[in-house]
Amino acid sequence: MIQLKNIKKYYQMGENLIKALDDVSLNIKKNDFVAVMGPSGSGKSTLMNIIGCLDTPSSGTYILNEKEVNSLDDDEMAKIRNSNLGFIFQNFNLLPRLNAIKNVALPLLYSSNNYNNIKKAIESLEMVGLKDRIYHKPSELSGGQSQRVAIARALINNPSIILADEPTGNLDSVTSEEIMKLLQKLHKKGQTIIMVTHEGSIAKYADYAIHMRDGKITNDI
Ligand SMILES: Nc1ncnc2c1ncn2[C@@H]1O[C@H](COP(=O)(O)OP(=O)(O)O)[C@@H](O)[C@H]1O
Ligand SMILES: [Mg+2]
Repeated sequence: MIQLKNIKKYYQMGENLIKALDDVSLNIKKNDFVAVMGPSGSGKSTLMNIIGCLDTPSSGTYILNEKEVNSLDDDEMAKIRNSNLGFIFQNFNLLPRLNAIKNVALPLLYSSNNYNNIKKAIESLEMVGLKDRIYHKPSELSGGQSQRVAIARALINNPSIILADEPTGNLDSVTSEEIMKLLQKLHKKGQTIIMVTHEGSIAKYADYAIHMRDGKITNDI
């Protein structure tokens, strides 16, 4: 499903060449649940951004669902992003003025007021256990509920892959466990999930972990 071959991402900062990713090769199969671990600055977010088609590598090949991605232009990348990828972030990234339904319907291409989109958004919110909070705005939701809304939003386009960058980073341990159980449930239903985390207790929900250091993968067992 995901194939990275010799991916490099370099930044020239004055005299210094920063190797954010330094020759990363990786295969991720359909329905894998992968944890990406490693110290701050090791390249985890850079890797997620490239897999998520939010950024392009300096060199190397990225194949997503049998399609070579790194030669595409911005519009084509955006299309792939919309139809294949769902994103979950540490700080939820919800729009404060919109209620849960409208936040979830946002990635749908047409108006978020469209009847079908609202119906789909409500179904997605039901799937994450928030049936009774669909008219709440982010300020009226707890952290765990907000992250559920973000997960419902990530699922709305039925993505083949969910990318989660420290999804429990802002949550207490009990709520973190609830969110991980939800991700685990999605995984059991067939969802492919790639998740960055610092914590072993969170990584254990994944099938396996990739460890990064200085832009390199140090193991993938
Ligand atoms: N846009 C950028 N410009 C310059 N350096 C960057 C940029 N993005 C990331 N880096 C550098 O690349 C390295 C990896 O960053 P990142 O992928 O964010 O690490 P992590 O998510 O593991 O903390 C770091 O040294 C960081 O400072
Ligand atoms: Mg990061």
